[in-house]
Amino acid sequence: MNPFTPLLDQFHHAYPGHSRVRLCHAPGRVNLIGEHIDYSGLPVLPMTVNRFIRVAYALREDDQLCMASADEAFPRAAFSIRTPVPPSSPGAWENYCKAAVEGINRGFKPIRARGMDMLIAGDIPKAAGLSSSSALVVACALAYLDAVGLRLEEDLSRIELAELLAEAEQYVGTRGGGMDQAIILLGEPGHACAIHFHPIRVECVPLFPGHSFVVLNSGVKAAKSGEALHRYNEGPLSCRLLRALVERQAREEFDDSIVLERLGDLWFGDLCLTHREVEGLVDRALPGERVPLRQASAILGIDEHEIRRRWLGDLKEPDGGFPLKARARHQLSEYRRVERARDMLLANDPRGFGELMNASHDSCAGDYAVSCEELDRLVAVARGAGAIGARLTGAGFGGCTVNLVPDDTVSEFLEQVKKAYYAAWPAERARDAVLVVEAADKAGYAG
Ligand code: GLA
Repeated sequence: MNPFTPLLDQFHHAYPGHSRVRLCHAPGRVNLIGEHIDYSGLPVLPMTVNRFIRVAYALREDDQLCMASADEAFPRAAFSIRTPVPPSSPGAWENYCKAAVEGINRGFKPIRARGMDMLIAGDIPKAAGLSSSSALVVACALAYLDAVGLRLEEDLSRIELAELLAEAEQYVGTRGGGMDQAIILLGEPGHACAIHFHPIRVECVPLFPGHSFVVLNSGVKAAKSGEALHRYNEGPLSCRLLRALVERQAREEFDDSIVLERLGDLWFGDLCLTHREVEGLVDRALPGERVPLRQASAILGIDEHEIRRRWLGDLKEPDGGFPLKARARHQLSEYRRVERARDMLLANDPRGFGELMNASHDSCAGDYAVSCEELDRLVAVARGAGAIGARLTGAGFGGCTVNLVPDDTVSEFLEQVKKAYYAAWPAERARDAVLVVEAADKAGYAG
């Protein structure tokens, strides 16, 4: 059955009287490798998944945007599309739609805009690290573009929209990079995509024949709101301090006028350093394994309040200082793994790719500290059950792992994982926790 058919029926029930109803959709994504480095401007290698947010919408005569969900867990919401659109309380689902509206209003300053009635449905597991929230932002943005009279690929490119929405999603309080919006808008069926940033460039590479990516849910919710939002932001915020210290070192060693907007500028900007040169520079920029705020202030010649105001906000200082050496080790090594993983895809070397996935998990869990006990256990179970690569995917702290498994061993693999990890789970929940994913089509309009 066409997945939009029940949505359309529900739409007419929820909002009677519309004659012209339009449809759009946005897939979720799974990141294969390149975790927590997009916000440093470093490349990543995700793919879309065949799970979607689907939206049925119709234009209104006034400026109200009314949202309803097919899932009763999400209450109806309505707001005026006029800028500035004030956010609802943290964690409210309409904030993702508000983020899209506010982003498009600011980016395009549309002269005319109409409100909408929207009904939203989705089958991307929530709070699982598969980007259901960015898919919601993208789907709402596609609908709202229609309401302001802008046509995707004619009035603005997919790349422009991805860049705009990466910025726009910061409205909800996360300090993420641009991976999710880019893969959702630019992914290709059957392909993983190497994505570079500033500006976005995408190279889609065919997936391994005879192998599957299996996504396993740890059962630990990884919602990016509330406390989890703070934990996620620790990465981007401490990378800002890292960037400032490395910039100071680069000015001392090369040229006093150097500006590093992000760590990635070391490789891609005017500097064009090699991996080895970057490693040396970063090493010299950091006095020890940990950098206390006091010491950072002395090095930078900027007082602690100002450092907080510019980069750290209210990020809590851990005992002994910020673990910047370990953060940097992950950034640098993960970037190298992404480059090599892309080469392994091109060379059709799944074993080599799997080893890089394993190393990525170990770096995420060790140096970057974004794993948790359950994810580590699930990764160990999967490796024991025959995955040739297993790692956490997405922001971490819960959610899913992604596993590379030869097709002829997938059933055996799933049997073993079920016994070892999901044995105590109710059958339906255990069944829903396992997805053998395919790279689906990118976000767009239907019909
Ligand atoms: C979230 C963010 C992304 C990225 C990942 C971690 O999904 O939205 O930008 O930082 O976490 O790789």
